[in-house]
Amino acid sequence: MTTPSLASTRDELVTLLADARASGRRVGLVPTMGALHEGHASLIRAARERVGDGPVVVSVFVNPLQFGEGEDLDRYPRTLDADLKVCAREGVDTVFAPSVEEVYPGGNPQVTIKPGPRAKILEGRIRPGHFRGVLTVVAKLFGLVRPDVAVFGQKDYQQLVLVRRMVLDLDLGVDVVGAPTVREGDGLALSSRNRYLDADQRVAATALNRALIAARENARYGVDVALGEARSELREHLVDLDYLVITDADLGDLPRDVPAGTEARILVAARVGATRLIDNMPLVLGRVAGPEGET
Ligand code: PAF
Repeated sequence: MTTPSLASTRDELVTLLADARASGRRVGLVPTMGALHEGHASLIRAARERVGDGPVVVSVFVNPLQFGEGEDLDRYPRTLDADLKVCAREGVDTVFAPSVEEVYPGGNPQVTIKPGPRAKILEGRIRPGHFRGVLTVVAKLFGLVRPDVAVFGQKDYQQLVLVRRMVLDLDLGVDVVGAPTVREGDGLALSSRNRYLDADQRVAATALNRALIAARENARYGVDVALGEARSELREHLVDLDYLVITDADLGDLPRDVPAGTEARILVAARVGATRLIDNMPLVLGRVAGPEGET
């Protein structure tokens, strides 16, 4: 276990990555807001697989630009010492943990990334401005770290889709990898926010995963049946639903007559007590007839 180098300024980061750049090794980036858990560890491993002996950089930065008013910016856990231990265990080379002033030296940026139409739905509808903040800081991290590959969790699926689109539309030349969601034994997707759930809420929260599985298992009967099965799982628990939708794999609308075998995504967001949770799963849609119509 080697302690990763800690960079808190741009200059320190440049110095730490100089050798790797000079020798042409690939650089991997795992952008995070800290409070690292096993889900992040799996992203780090995915980065390591892609860069071999090149450096893996983990950024730890709670980005104020992606929090709206009344959101949990102040309450967001800041646990750098524990994060460094996770990074050491996972063989991270460099942790980049800058201050807000280091990332935004001119204060609030005047030029930001406009995240486009896919940012107006789902999370973007509930958290206006969120993805402008996310894409702006991700673009800055790409500029600062200049990674060959960057790994994001599929758990934040809309974020992943938007980062991919930004890289495509702006020719950023970064290979974006979406790593599968890591779950607890009871299926709850790992999230830094799970720590806010009390014991009853923790049980209620597992309904999200069960709802997604119910949808996936019924996806061959079409969108309506799949959504209906998911809703009945959620109804049994005290979860306050923000949305439950099935989209195409790129978050676009599905055609009315979905061809059998269409790869789609189901996404859910709900409040459990004061904690907002999101989750999603891939599914393969079949024909539209209900179970009774099965031949
Ligand atoms: O997913 C996150 O933790 C954040 O949105 C990210 C990508 C690190 C940008 O602040």
